[in-house]
Amino acid sequence: MTDLAPSILSSDFSDLKNEIKKVKNADYLHLDVMDGNFVPNISFGPGLIKSLRPHSDLVFDTHLMIEDPEKYIKDFARAGSDYITVHAETTKHLHRAIQQIKGNDCRAGVALNPATSIKEVENILTDIDLLLIMTVNPGFGGQELISEMFNKIKQAASIINKNKYGVKIAVDGGVKLNNLHKFVENGSDIIVAGSAIFNAKNPKKKVESFKNKLNQLKHTYTAKEV
Ligand code: DX5
Ligand code: ZN
Repeated sequence: MTDLAPSILSSDFSDLKNEIKKVKNADYLHLDVMDGNFVPNISFGPGLIKSLRPHSDLVFDTHLMIEDPEKYIKDFARAGSDYITVHAETTKHLHRAIQQIKGNDCRAGVALNPATSIKEVENILTDIDLLLIMTVNPGFGGQELISEMFNKIKQAASIINKNKYGVKIAVDGGVKLNNLHKFVENGSDIIVAGSAIFNAKNPKKKVESFKNKLNQLKHTYTAKEV
């Protein structure tokens, strides 16, 4: 079944300890780190992640939208990340960055901007645990999804399935309850959702609705199983 990863980017930063409790029935906690350089926004760093770690049992899924991520991988691992995902566009030595993540006892993910082809990562799919397909341009919550990305998800699922790579596909950006089925049908293993959950009147109930719908949709998930 497809898992749910609420992104705290759209939560109330002044009340994070309570905000993350509202999504405790999800599977992952998605942590969007932005440097104001790779993306036109600045969010938070390892210090904040470290301070949240004792307050959640969810899998910490750290999405680094920062240039030269190698410099900070150790810090994000020590902060309590379970998964660390770097963008293919941010490093000259992607393979080295992946090895560094694994060397720090985390699972390794690679993210692709909408304009970056799956081909960019085909040679390293055996080395990673997670492929994060951006369905908006990274930088902000609440953007509309780019629907051409459904084909990209399908293409990635087909390559991963055919070769039995065992890589999870995560999708990030513009996911709502009413378009969830398209992400699942095309082969997504992890759904990241920010504004749809944290801007809801009752985020806890919204997590339940997402989980229920994902459960209903599990039989439409035919593209691959990880
Ligand atoms: C965007 C971030 C996303 C963001 C998604 O750069 O990577 O994780 O929080 O927000 P929504 O779900 O509102 O599109
Ligand atoms: Zn993200």
